[in-house]
Amino acid sequence: MVMCWMKLRTFLLIVGFFGILLLIIQVHLTPGDEEASILENEPVILWWTPFGSDGTSRTCGKFRCHFTQDRIYRNHQNLKAILFYGSNLEINDLPIPRAPGVQWGLLHEESPRNNLMFVHEAALKLFNYSSTFSRFSDVPLTLVDLPGEEDLLNKKFFTPTNEKNRLIKEENLSPLLYLQSNCDTLSERDLYISELMKYIPIDAYGACLNNRNLPEHLRSNYIENLNSDELKKFVGQYKFTLAFENAVCDDYITEKLWRPLIVGSVPIYYGSPTFKDWLPNNSSAVGVQDFESPKHLAEFLHQLMKNDTAYEQYLPHKLAKTGISNDRLLRNLRKRPGELFSVFEYYYRTFQCQVCEKIHRNEHRTASRKEYNCEKPDGRFNFNGKTVKNSWIDAWNMEKCTGVLLTEYLLKNEGFRSREFNAKKMKMFKTNEC
Ligand SMILES: *[C@@H]1O[C@H](CO)[C@@H](O)[C@H](O)[C@H]1NC(C)=O
Ligand SMILES: *[C@@H]1O[C@H](CO)[C@@H](O)[C@H](O)[C@H]1NC(C)=O
Ligand SMILES: *[C@@H]1O[C@H](CO)[C@@H](O)[C@H](O)[C@H]1NC(C)=O
Ligand SMILES: *[C@@H]1O[C@H](CO)[C@@H](O)[C@H](O)[C@H]1NC(C)=O
Repeated sequence: MVMCWMKLRTFLLIVGFFGILLLIIQVHLTPGDEEASILENEPVILWWTPFGSDGTSRTCGKFRCHFTQDRIYRNHQNLKAILFYGSNLEINDLPIPRAPGVQWGLLHEESPRNNLMFVHEAALKLFNYSSTFSRFSDVPLTLVDLPGEEDLLNKKFFTPTNEKNRLIKEENLSPLLYLQSNCDTLSERDLYISELMKYIPIDAYGACLNNRNLPEHLRSNYIENLNSDELKKFVGQYKFTLAFENAVCDDYITEKLWRPLIVGSVPIYYGSPTFKDWLPNNSSAVGVQDFESPKHLAEFLHQLMKNDTAYEQYLPHKLAKTGISNDRLLRNLRKRPGELFSVFEYYYRTFQCQVCEKIHRNEHRTASRKEYNCEKPDGRFNFNGKTVKNSWIDAWNMEKCTGVLLTEYLLKNEGFRSREFNAKKMKMFKTNEC
């Protein structure tokens, strides 16, 4: 019995020993394998903010690069570029000192709401490639929220005009829908819409300006179900949908515009001043910027409410034979492969490949303001003579100091502690040095 136990113990020990040995070998082999797969002179591109990059080499056109998110590659002799995802970028976690010949790339589809730093050129200039909502970036993400051409044309969620009229008359629906739960915005949309409400009925279902409850079946978690068929069908019942972005930036267009276009409710749009360049047809939406005031806009909408022919001219992508008549939109949508697992994945892979090709071709540059061009909130919606100070304005101004200070450190190629950085930043801000 004792013998048996001894043997068993020895056996377990041996098994355990080999197990640990195997584990050690494996731990050492995995990065070694990745390392071994990199060809001589093959550029290494490192995602500093982890981004589903799998530590493999890929072919991009005629070229090959190695993509990784393992920070061990920070010191690799082939490292040529470091890429960042804007929303996750933290200034006290940057690869400083920056090695000469290592380019930085920024991927950021979001508005400044997620990271205010990039509205200032000082911060943008730290990068050599960009993929933002702007058409001037290397891989524009303007259409990242638009599923496809077919979605704009089909009538899956469409409600015909006579039915919309009936709903207004018999079911007490307002002509306009507002569905938003983020109310304190750079674009100050709620100020405009609360003024508009004085002149035309609006059903506001979200947390912002709420005056009505969603039907029971849509009520729970509507924010997570924004893309559900039920919600689309619901939005489609409205003649108009208020489509106001949370920030005003050139080419920053989100599902707020696309959803009403897809379901066939006419968007009343505020956001990117250049949005008409991306509409299916110039009369596919009503632009807030085309009206002197909310009152004027309301008068115009009342006209369309009275005249179905005039109203239907705002639905050409659903009702007219011309369909989509915007070449820029079509060209950009048709660049994408037909079946996509995820539109976003398509864009970020395209961006990494562009960076790879540019490295091989030695085409680098410094990013500039037009790649992230946003308007500073300035109390533009002051209707009753009183200007309301936007709660974002101090942070907006402060973030300029972040960019300026960061550039200073990078020029010296010096790292910093965040306490020291923040203290200096505050001082610069208070003495108006940025
Ligand atoms: C609509 O008109 C504007 C200015 O007139 C133009 O910039 C834009 O490209 C046009 N869009 C379409 C879809 O034709
Ligand atoms: C309705 O709108 C159409 C198109 O704009 C216009 O031709 C027509 O005269 C309008 N009808 C009335 C009664 O105003
Ligand atoms: C937009 O659609 C209308 C039909 O409503 C059509 O007459 C017009 O030609 C279209 N615009 C362009 C630029 O094709
Ligand atoms: C890349 O960006 C950095 C930071 O702005 C800049 O110093 C450098 O000159 C740029 N590289 C090229 C090749 O333009």
